[in-house]
Amino acid sequence: SIDLRGRSFLKELDYTREELLHLVSLAAELKKARRAGTEVPRLTGRNIALIFERASTRTRCSFEVAAHHQGAHVTYLEPATTHIGSKESIRDTARVLGRMFDGIGFRGNSHETVETLSRHSGIPVWNGLTRDWHPTQMLADVLTMVEHFGKPADALSFAFLGAADSNLGNSYAVIGALLGMDVRIVGPRSLWPDENAVVKPATELARLSGATLTLTEDVAAGVRGADVLLTDVWASMGDPWELWAERIDLLMPYQVNAAAMAATGNPDVRFMHCLPAFHDGETSFGETVRARTGHTELEVTSEVFESAASLVFDQAENRLHTIKAVMVATLAGPAD
Ligand code: CP
Ligand code: NVA
Repeated sequence: SIDLRGRSFLKELDYTREELLHLVSLAAELKKARRAGTEVPRLTGRNIALIFERASTRTRCSFEVAAHHQGAHVTYLEPATTHIGSKESIRDTARVLGRMFDGIGFRGNSHETVETLSRHSGIPVWNGLTRDWHPTQMLADVLTMVEHFGKPADALSFAFLGAADSNLGNSYAVIGALLGMDVRIVGPRSLWPDENAVVKPATELARLSGATLTLTEDVAAGVRGADVLLTDVWASMGDPWELWAERIDLLMPYQVNAAAMAATGNPDVRFMHCLPAFHDGETSFGETVRARTGHTELEVTSEVFESAASLVFDQAENRLHTIKAVMVATLAGPAD
């Protein structure tokens, strides 16, 4: 049996295929129990710290609500009202929090920060997104695909369109490769995941798992036959406007729109997006983009986002169940 007690969850490459599938199936069980009203709290009396250096809606709420469902208490820390990162190093913070808490959820910029937290705290640390990886999102996405199609992960194919030199691009390439999926990264070559840090290890994992990993600039070839088209925002949260501006023309051919969905040739193709999505311009940032470029839809059109093919809110809900699974598995371990 798989026992993940005491382990951190920092990036997909640290876990085996069996361990990742165990987390996905535990999440499915916890989801079922939640719906049936039979969930058993296994984290009663535990204390969890959340350190979020960057904005979040889904990830923070998932940690907080999941902890509450399981009987744990959460302390939310943010750089503005703590010493973290300004007066006190991450290494010292880790050693303090390790004396008080049972686990730490982190969201931030540098991946090195979450590695440092894990190394020096001595307790499980869970990565809720860094510049390089978004592993809890991957568990939610795999759960969403598996439950929607009723097939195991290695029977599924997905294409990620857009800016793949990102946490999501990296994580999709690796999770697909680990789980034996047919994964396509479709976007301009200049925005593909890093060769050494991502493509090489993913290619090696794909060879072992039987996955197919394709990187292509050709939308028609990249999406053909795919079960799911996925995308993400074209630059990371907090990136300067200039970065967005210079990418818009380059990435517009990779927008997920009705034509891209049709190009799969699959009438049952589904759409996924980790959210937030830029599809209707109904935000203050959307106002800026509209004023400066005239665009109200970037990586996905509202037509696709709002269509029956869109799984985005199931996917968002699954953040809760999968983050819960990670905390339960690494703190409580296998059920008796
Ligand atoms: N998908 C995701 O990580 O959402 P948040 O940024 O709202 O946490
Ligand atoms: N790639 C996005 C993900 C947001 C959940 C970002 O880094 O902002």
